[in-house]
Amino acid sequence: MRVKVFLLFVLLLSATGTFAQSIESPGKKLSLSFGLTEAGEPTYQLSFGGKAVVKKSRLGIELKDQPALTKGFTVAKAVTSQTDETWETVWGEVSRIRNHYNELKVMLRQPSQGGRTMIIRFRLFDDGLGFRYEIPAQDGLKYFIISDERTEFNLTGDHKTFWMPGDYDSNEYTYSTTKLSEVDATRGKSAQEISVKSFISANAVQTPLMMKTFDGLYINIHEAALVNYPAMNLLLDKQAYALTSHLVPDAVGNKAYLQSPCRTPWRTVVVSDRAADILASKLILNLNEPPQMSDVSWIRPQKYVGIWWEMHVGKSTWNYADGVGSTDLVETDWKSLKPNGKHGATTENTKRYIDFAARHGFDGVLVEGWNIGWEDWFGNWKEDMFDFVTPYPDFDLKELQKYAADRKVKLIMHHETSASTSNYERRMDEAYRFMNLHGYDSVKTGYVGRIIPRGEHHDGQWMVNHYLRVARKTARYKIMLDAHEPVRPTGLHRSYPNWLASEAARGNEFNAWSSGNPPEHETILPFTRLMGGPMDYTPGIFQIKLDYYQPGKKEQVHTTLAKQLALYVTMYSPLQMAADLPENYERFMDAFQFIKDVAVDWDDTRILEAEPGDYLTIARKARKKDEWYVGAITDEQARTASVKLSDLPLKRWYAATVYADAADAHWEKNPMAYKIESFLVNDETTLKIALASGGGAAISLKPASADDMKKLKPYKESR
Ligand code: NOJ
Ligand code: CA
Repeated sequence: MRVKVFLLFVLLLSATGTFAQSIESPGKKLSLSFGLTEAGEPTYQLSFGGKAVVKKSRLGIELKDQPALTKGFTVAKAVTSQTDETWETVWGEVSRIRNHYNELKVMLRQPSQGGRTMIIRFRLFDDGLGFRYEIPAQDGLKYFIISDERTEFNLTGDHKTFWMPGDYDSNEYTYSTTKLSEVDATRGKSAQEISVKSFISANAVQTPLMMKTFDGLYINIHEAALVNYPAMNLLLDKQAYALTSHLVPDAVGNKAYLQSPCRTPWRTVVVSDRAADILASKLILNLNEPPQMSDVSWIRPQKYVGIWWEMHVGKSTWNYADGVGSTDLVETDWKSLKPNGKHGATTENTKRYIDFAARHGFDGVLVEGWNIGWEDWFGNWKEDMFDFVTPYPDFDLKELQKYAADRKVKLIMHHETSASTSNYERRMDEAYRFMNLHGYDSVKTGYVGRIIPRGEHHDGQWMVNHYLRVARKTARYKIMLDAHEPVRPTGLHRSYPNWLASEAARGNEFNAWSSGNPPEHETILPFTRLMGGPMDYTPGIFQIKLDYYQPGKKEQVHTTLAKQLALYVTMYSPLQMAADLPENYERFMDAFQFIKDVAVDWDDTRILEAEPGDYLTIARKARKKDEWYVGAITDEQARTASVKLSDLPLKRWYAATVYADAADAHWEKNPMAYKIESFLVNDETTLKIALASGGGAAISLKPASADDMKKLKPYKESR
């Protein structure tokens, strides 16, 4: 139900001078003040429970070859309204979401610039603020170029901050945790494992930016509904604790090309005195538009396996032949190349994965390296890279299509574009038709490398529009999408629910071939990257030490095996991979049971414990099923997770299976030691579970059968 009451007044037309108006959030937790300075500069302030969160900060936009939209404004009108509605998710962490906010819409005029107008729209929720700029259709601003946005976030102190270097091309850095005054993003220049990066400055950081104040307020700054606009980085003034927006430029240095009427993405500030509320916030989704497609019946959350990790650990290759200096889509005779004997995407190997998927109830099998072009795919800034329709000679697509269909498994398509987006744009329709023809209904895209059109960046307006074109076009072909190396998500999966997940951060793969992801990484990601949407993190690696594949290989996954299980719950995604090799799962079938059981779509989510950078315990109820799954993780500090089931609406006895670190487990010294125990539990139970350094635990709760009631013992803390 939607209740929208246009309440308050249309306010004075102040010819010049200052202006101020405040609103409160529906439950009065937050308050927002808008004002104009003497110079007619728009400003805002935000407070939580009477405490300042954002001090007076200026708002505005700079234009190319035109006076800026930053000052000389008067207020033509200010209108407040209220919205309280509840909507149903196509898939998600919860089935229903309440969208409850008070809005202040300020219409500004610039009398000295021929009366140009701009609207700033604020939406104040009990868990934060969203605001955006809107440019109404007008003669003075029909087509215009943004040279930068001047949105300030003046913070109140030297907050603890979880940040990564600002960048125009990559979001695959590790996080640093420092005070604001100690941010030094210089490492953005030298991160060797990130091949394409574009250093901005030592003071530039990315969003979502997570902070904690000395007196325990949690603040998260990001954006919502990034459409036809570049992504926002933030420039930090370390003395003043002030952040200012810095947009990603295009190939000629401009930021955005707009045509009125138009609007920017929402700038978001999520605030609470409880870390759990940051994770539970639906503010970013609420600021996005409802689904932009009428039929969503074909969209389904899914679990998959794939020919993937075996390439990352060096067991097999994407390419079919070795030592081929260069290839050409038209000229190269692929059949005449000498196979290297290590190609992963062969018909036989794919059948093995299909068999495994069918045996264990997985929906899909991703196959990377199935198509011609991988011999010289990387690092050449080459335009005609892949064609997305021609298999290698040892990949019998027709046969595999039938083999998969007979076993009720879907093959998942892989479109690595090598960042040659112009090439992909030309071939997209043909590629999606090819998928429809061959029974594929999900695609994983990838943008490794320097972007073509040359000079564009991964996070600029042109690419932002590209990712969205892909989401829209795949929807037309009834294809579900998983984008790797795209811009960071901003909740657009509400509008395009076929866009199941993105990578857009440092995934598990970095553990295979770089210094990896430190044990705290997965305790930070939900507070940062995942604020914008689901991540294809690719959890589930059981063979933690990688010298298993090559003696002497020093890389390893920086978690225990049990923590890899917990990630299926703590790292929300409707698309989850069981990323390890079938033969590794076969060695640990008892632990693998959790991956087989765990749901990927939820009715309800409860954040039981949370502290960014330290730990996280989350419980989720499977959609339309009386089953709960719990994940608890910690950073490098061992700790005891407390799973208080009275926090869940349990009405009966459940059989709980607990997959936990063994007493002597440790992410580095003994990562694969786990134990599995089963108990009877109810809503009076509090499970105390020891998590090893870099460890975690996963729990499934299923209604106890008569047999369980006989065989299992109620959980007792002092066992
Ligand atoms: C990087 C992606 O994140 C990874 O999943 C993929 O295997 C490689 N690119 C090759 O496309
Ligand atoms: Ca990647």
